[in-house]
Amino acid sequence: MNGTALTVHQIARPYGFPTAEHFAFVESPLPEPAAGEALVENLYWSVDPYHREMMDEVPGGFPLHAPLEGRTLGRVVASRTPRLAEGEILFHRQGWRTHTVVTPEEVRRLPRFDGVPWTAYLSVLGGTGLTAYVGLTRIARLQEGEDLFVSAAAGGVGTATGRFARLLGAGRLVGSAGSAAKAGYLVREVGYDAAFDYHDGPVADLLGAVAPDGVDVFVDNVGGEQLAAAVRALREFGRIVRIGTISQYNTPDAPPPRFDYADIVEKSLRMEGFLVSNYRDLQEELYEFAVPHLQSGRLAPDETVVDGFEHIVDAFLGMLHGRNTGKIIVRERTEAPCGTGTRTPVS
Ligand SMILES: NC(=O)c1ccc[n+]([C@@H]2O[C@H](COP(=O)([O-])OP(=O)(O)OC[C@H]3O[C@@H](n4cnc5c(N)ncnc54)[C@H](OP(=O)(O)O)[C@@H]3O)[C@@H](O)[C@H]2O)c1
Repeated sequence: MNGTALTVHQIARPYGFPTAEHFAFVESPLPEPAAGEALVENLYWSVDPYHREMMDEVPGGFPLHAPLEGRTLGRVVASRTPRLAEGEILFHRQGWRTHTVVTPEEVRRLPRFDGVPWTAYLSVLGGTGLTAYVGLTRIARLQEGEDLFVSAAAGGVGTATGRFARLLGAGRLVGSAGSAAKAGYLVREVGYDAAFDYHDGPVADLLGAVAPDGVDVFVDNVGGEQLAAAVRALREFGRIVRIGTISQYNTPDAPPPRFDYADIVEKSLRMEGFLVSNYRDLQEELYEFAVPHLQSGRLAPDETVVDGFEHIVDAFLGMLHGRNTGKIIVRERTEAPCGTGTRTPVS
């Protein structure tokens, strides 16, 4: 096969926020599949906060001057194995590149559900949705009627958490986000009862205003001041679901949050973190829960879709600066817009 492939490499380690200078687009001839392999043309890419963590010199982090990895959907365009049919769309982890060669062991086949767009396999039905689902059902063990506070509520995990919590019978749902527009979106579109912009003052005061009687569960995507404020606002037997710490990924000199440890004892609080990679066995359960709601329209994927692989680095950097609403996904320009869902253009 003739043609060229583009691959993104990390070429330097950032201190604080990364910039486009930390990446390079590298051109090469299209890779050739060997016997037992297939050539995949990638169509949809997920860029995620964990990529920022992997940009640092950490165990398992990205090596410099090598192709990056990430969750991706691609179409088989040439196959030298009967186990991967040409035309099939697959999930794999060799992202940040236009083309890749895969073996059947390296890919996951995606079930097709009527009316469900491909992007949903990277948002509500993908690792993002699974994180929200595990957080609510296995870590918080959410009970009907319980009140929640969610940080980074307008992001991928945050919007999925809000929508799933509603479907699971949550009580009052409050969230924080980085702008008034996002706070409005949470209430208008996602089903939050109230939301605030965390820039508007001390988070303890802002949270106290929207949840004056406290909350039962805090789903934390952010850490820092928001975590400290939530410890104070949680009721007896409250749970803190530690999902991520994005407030610290780009600010290595920021002090860790300070909260009153006595609250953990006196209110019998439980704080538990988890990695979604340890809950892959719940993927089918997520489909069973979410797909009927997607098909009935009770659940919509919140997504910011960026067109064109050449914008993948900008999309990633934009997400770190809060320019996404819902899950950020990069789409190959030739892919026709498909399916339903709430789509926000990237600014
Ligand atoms: N434990 C796991 O297995 C797992 C799996 C997936 C994701 N995560 C974690 O979950 C969190 C959310 O991930 P996601 O994929 O859904 O990303 P996301 O929320 O869609 O995007 C990141 C968002 O973080 C917010 N943000 C950036 N800097 C911030 C700061 N200093 N303080 C508060 N908010 C800030 C921005 O929104 P604003 O405009 O609101 O600031 C941005 O849109 C991340 O911490 C991620 O590492 C963990």
